[in-house]
Order: sequence, then structure tokens, then C-alpha cells
Amino acid sequence: MTDVGDSPSVRRLSAWDAAELQTLVDDYGSPLYVLDLERVRQNYRRLAAAFPDADILYAVKANALGDVLTTLREEGAGLECASAGEVQRALEAGASGSEVHYTAVNPPARDLDWIVDTWREHPDLTVTVGSEDTIDRLADRGYDGRLCLRVNPGIGAGHHEKVQTGAAAKFGVPAERAVDVLADAAGRGFDVVGIHSHVGSGVSSDQLDDHREFVARMGDLARKVSHVVGDLEFVDVGGGFGVPYRTDEEPLDLESVADATREALGEIDARLTIEPGRYFVADAGVLLTDVNTIKAARDTTVVGVDAGMTTLIRPAMYDAYHPIRNLTADLDADEREMIPQTVAGPICESGDVFCADRELPATERGDVLAIGNAGAYGYEMANQYNSRPRPASIILADGDARLARRRETVDDVTRPERETCGGTDADRKTDDHPAASDTDNQRVR
Ligand SMILES: Cc1ncc(COP(=O)(O)O)c(C=O)c1O
Repeated sequence: MTDVGDSPSVRRLSAWDAAELQTLVDDYGSPLYVLDLERVRQNYRRLAAAFPDADILYAVKANALGDVLTTLREEGAGLECASAGEVQRALEAGASGSEVHYTAVNPPARDLDWIVDTWREHPDLTVTVGSEDTIDRLADRGYDGRLCLRVNPGIGAGHHEKVQTGAAAKFGVPAERAVDVLADAAGRGFDVVGIHSHVGSGVSSDQLDDHREFVARMGDLARKVSHVVGDLEFVDVGGGFGVPYRTDEEPLDLESVADATREALGEIDARLTIEPGRYFVADAGVLLTDVNTIKAARDTTVVGVDAGMTTLIRPAMYDAYHPIRNLTADLDADEREMIPQTVAGPICESGDVFCADRELPATERGDVLAIGNAGAYGYEMANQYNSRPRPASIILADGDARLARRRETVDDVTRPERETCGGTDADRKTDDHPAASDTDNQRVR
């Protein structure tokens, strides 16, 4: 197992073994997510070394694969869960109640019912609430366990406006009302244990001033709360640690972020908690996709691939940049010409492109492309739009590759409707659209 000492602070797409990845597509088909658990461990250890005095929760939403949860638990992380489903995954990964924080954002009744039932069995779990209504709804269900209040500090940061949560009205109780809300909750018998906020996702080094101001506000609030309600167990300043997606982007200087966090928080009688997601998994994952179409368009060459915005939605949703590498070209003896290309998926939306006019080695039909930094918010945000089954996921661990989650079939997509309409699986063929045919995949090896 690798040590922190020899783990680079960023793993670029060029560092992946092209032959190994190409073999995985040959064996398991395309599109295919690949996640390297050793890299997940390295990322955890690097961050934990920078924050030796913090409790670390992993934000499960970044990548909820059971192997990831088990690995990060082994490393010492607790689990921050955004839904009852994620809490269920956390418990299935062996977490005890005390390792689980459930962050409720306008929680559906079904989630709250399940969480309160689960709390009776696991009384140490923590529920983080972002509104007084959620506190009332918990009380109505008999919950008086560990309660953390998510506050809205009025400062947002992150890689895109859609992930800047710290000033978005949707999230948390305005910081100026937090003391009253917590005093009231304590008076009603809740076990008030912490305050929480998450400024946004993908925060970069040049947003360090925003981070500092945000943490300072959390420190001030913690001191005010402790005067009125008593000492808190923890102050959770969320996740958001950015990773470089472009090759010319520098990795986050973790030491500076850690120093700024400690300094801005000031003296408090509470543990510092952080809950990163992306940082642990982003560069541990790649998405592999087959090229099925090459088309000379008016101003660009279109490279048609079998992954799309349903497989990895970040480019379409956030205009996110992901590095793209042609594995087949890299394995080819012949040098290929660099030309501007637009890599597009099979979905009937103009937004279904992974890059536009990017200089890449001239692609050929049958090539395999790797899309980098796909380990965070990749599979988790995949969906079945256009009735497209979700891809398979492969885990790399201990020198081996294994299937961690099978590829969905069209049958998986249509089953709920068929069952609702009274039919049974037996009424239909189970998989009338096999994952891929080899007919047009004559790859150059
Ligand atoms: C409450 C909360 N905590 C933690 C995170 C993790 O953020 P990141 O993956 O950027 O570290 C998120 C992401 O949206 C979040 O909403």
C-alpha cells in the first residue's frame, strides 16, 4: 500500500496506463467507469496529514460505490450522507451510527421516517438540519437525538454558480438567526452537538480569501452559540476542496488551506470537522468510451462516442472541463496529427458534448478515449435519459481489476414501468439490447 510520502498531489490523465485501460474496455465493454482505490487512499492520507487535528467525513454524494465507502472508513473517515439512501449505503459499508452524519435539505417525509427509525437502532447518528421546519418534523416523529444546525453564512465559493451553496437561500438557516434556533432546539430536548456550513464545491486556491472569511464567520458563530447553548462538540466547515481538471492548473495548496482554516476559526472549544468529497475521488477515476463516428462538420471534426451527458453530466451541466486522451493513438506506433475536434455523445441534445474544438490527435473510428477526473460526480449523476442504461464500474485494487457494478440493460430501464403495468420479467426477453456489438469495434492495438 502506498504511503503519503510518495503520492503526487495530483494524478494527471497522462499517468494512467493506456494498455491496461484499453484491455478493460475490451473485457468489460464501453462506456466504462474505472476507479483506482489506491489513489483514493493516497488522496485521503494527504488531506488527513494537512488536517491532523480535524475529524474527516467523506461526502458520499461524490461517489457512493460501496468499495469507496469501505476504503475511506478503513482510512478513518466518517460518512456525510445527503439522503436516506446514502445513510443506508453507509450502514451497509459497516459504519456505526456515530460515523454517520445525515444532512437534511428539504428532506422528503419518506427520508425522515426512515432516518428516525434508523436512529432508534443507531442512537449515535447525527442529523444536520437547515430549517426550523425540519426540526419540527423531527420532533413530530419523536426524534430528540444529536442535532447539528446548518447555517447560511452569506458567502459562496466554488467552480460554478450552480455549486456555490454558502449564500444560496436554499441552504441553511441565516447565520444571524442560528443562536435563537439552537437555543430553542436545546430547550425542546434536542442534543445540540454542532454547527455546519458548506460554502460550495470545487473551491480553488484563488478563493482562499472567501474561505478565510467564511471560516471566521463560523468561528464567531461557534463562540456565540457556546455562550447561550453551551459548548459544541464540533464545527463543520463542509467540503469543497478543489482539484485541478486542466493540465495547466496547479493543485490546491492543502497546507495553506489548513493554516487559513485554523487561523480564521480562532480559539474554540470544539472539534473542527471537514467533509470533502471530490478531493478523494476525482483524480482516482476515468471514464472510457468507444469512438463510433467521425464526421467532418462545417467548422470542426465531430468525434461521436458512446458515453454522453447521461454518463457524465458535468460538461453539460457546469461547462466543466475534463481532460480527454486517445488511448488507442497513444498505443499506436504512428504519430497522429493534432486537429481541433468536438467530442459528442449519443444524446439528442446540443449540450451533449465533452469538448468543443479541442486539439487532440486525429481520432479514428474504433479508438478508445479516456475522460479524466471522472471519479467525482460522474457515475453519481448518471441517469437514464433517452432510455440509456447506466455504464459498468470497475475497481482497481491490490494490483487487480474487478467489476464493482454491472452495466445496466434496457430491461433495467423499463422494468419499473412493466411491473407497474402488471407484466412480469418473464413476459419479455431479459436483455434485448446487449451492451455492445464487436462489429464496428475493430480496434487498432
Ligand atoms: C453539505 C455538503 N458537504 C460536502 C460536500 C462535498 O463537496 P466537495 O465534493 O466539493 O468536497 C457537498 C457537495 O455538494 C455538500 O453539499
